[in-house]
Amino acid sequence: MKTIIEPFKIKSVEPIKFTTREEREVLLKEAGYNPFLIKAEDVLIDLLTDSGTSAMSAQQWAGIMLGDEAYAGSNSFYKFDAAVKKITGMKTVIPTHQGRAAEKILFSILGGKGKYFAANTFFDTTRANIEFSGSEGFDFVVEVGKHPEQRADFKGNMDVKALETFINEKGAENIPLIMLTITNNSGGGQPVSMQNIREVREICDDYEIPLYLDACRFAENAYFIKKREKGYENKSVLEIAQEMFSYADGATMSAKKDALVNIGGFLALNDDELAMNCRNLLIVTEGFPTYGGLAGRDLEAIAQGLEEIVDEHYLQYRIRSVEYLGEKLIAAGVPIIEPPGGHAIYLDAKRFLPNIPPEEFPAQSIVCELYIEGGIRAVEIGSVMFGKYDKDGYLIPPPMELVRLAIPRRVYTQSHIDYVAEVVIEVYNRRQTLPGYLLTYEAPILRHFTARFEKLCNP
Ligand code: F0G
Repeated sequence: MKTIIEPFKIKSVEPIKFTTREEREVLLKEAGYNPFLIKAEDVLIDLLTDSGTSAMSAQQWAGIMLGDEAYAGSNSFYKFDAAVKKITGMKTVIPTHQGRAAEKILFSILGGKGKYFAANTFFDTTRANIEFSGSEGFDFVVEVGKHPEQRADFKGNMDVKALETFINEKGAENIPLIMLTITNNSGGGQPVSMQNIREVREICDDYEIPLYLDACRFAENAYFIKKREKGYENKSVLEIAQEMFSYADGATMSAKKDALVNIGGFLALNDDELAMNCRNLLIVTEGFPTYGGLAGRDLEAIAQGLEEIVDEHYLQYRIRSVEYLGEKLIAAGVPIIEPPGGHAIYLDAKRFLPNIPPEEFPAQSIVCELYIEGGIRAVEIGSVMFGKYDKDGYLIPPPMELVRLAIPRRVYTQSHIDYVAEVVIEVYNRRQTLPGYLLTYEAPILRHFTARFEKLCNP
């Protein structure tokens, strides 16, 4: 087997700025040890997110010029609408400016006090929108999905037994929908199998609860199904994606991931009455139903991106390039969620820094050190992002303490990734020198974006 190469040539480049370790130490301190607050130009390799950071293709840029900016009924909307319907088969497609805007609309209408939602794992904005409406969200990922060191093909699957127990406990009438996040971002970018989607669908049928997909990374999920699930090896990724959506009643999507664009999203659904209510809210918050907070050119780029994302040469390269980084880290003994996910490598901070307790944010400590060591920006997915407090003010940590190295689509080459591996391994090799952190400021909701920290004494 020959090297799997980037399936594109580079036509336009963007320089990156080099800083010294001393400069980075000052910059990080000024940012309250929260890399979200560092200027992007002071970052060498930005692995904060794979969201909105894709490089668009020449065809997408050409589409930008074709954008029809009519307020109502623009040509670009109809291209977008057709591209989304081709993949999802949904009756109504509502454009939104990004994924969380679709979530906000959906959960404002379906949520409220006394309602409960379940997912394999809700992403943080999804959970926040649920909680903001007054409802509660519950995660039921399969047990193996909670153990970073255990390998399994579909660690994003829903625990269907736990789901059914939950439905019986809360009452189906109080559960407006069940969601599957594909791939499961907060659980390591791990895929959900077709069989699991079917099983969840059956439960939803039994209890008459709609099933929604959080479809941000649907193409990566479909590719994993093709590679790992029996019976799908000879199907195209498009066919697999179409089958995945065929089991759902609706979907929210951040086009900033698997539609290869810098902004955009949508809500797609089959229920006419709900669609009407969503559109009415859309008009108040996002815009007219044929643009929904986007410019015509954005819709054009999404339509083209949805064509490109199901290309199997692209997906082979995409999944392999993440796996490549994972393999290098595993070979050096760095603990990560295994197997590597679709869009990111997740360092397992509990095993990386067993000496730092959750109250001192071990994953945040690694995030800070990656920046100092090599100018790499990563994100904490642990007690900073998902920690709660009990009634006495003590931290209730989430099950995992992770550092996500999200790989932007079509942006970095193999040598960038080699460099990332070198930096992570360097930090791992001197892990005994990493300090814990004290949280000194936090916002009441989604605190990780703006939190500030102070370094505790070196151990
Ligand atoms: N659902 C999932 C699974 C996501 O990963 C995201 C965004 C959203 C919904 C919300 O979409 O950002 O367009 O509003 N994830 C980004 C990330 C922010 O870095 O993982 P959005």
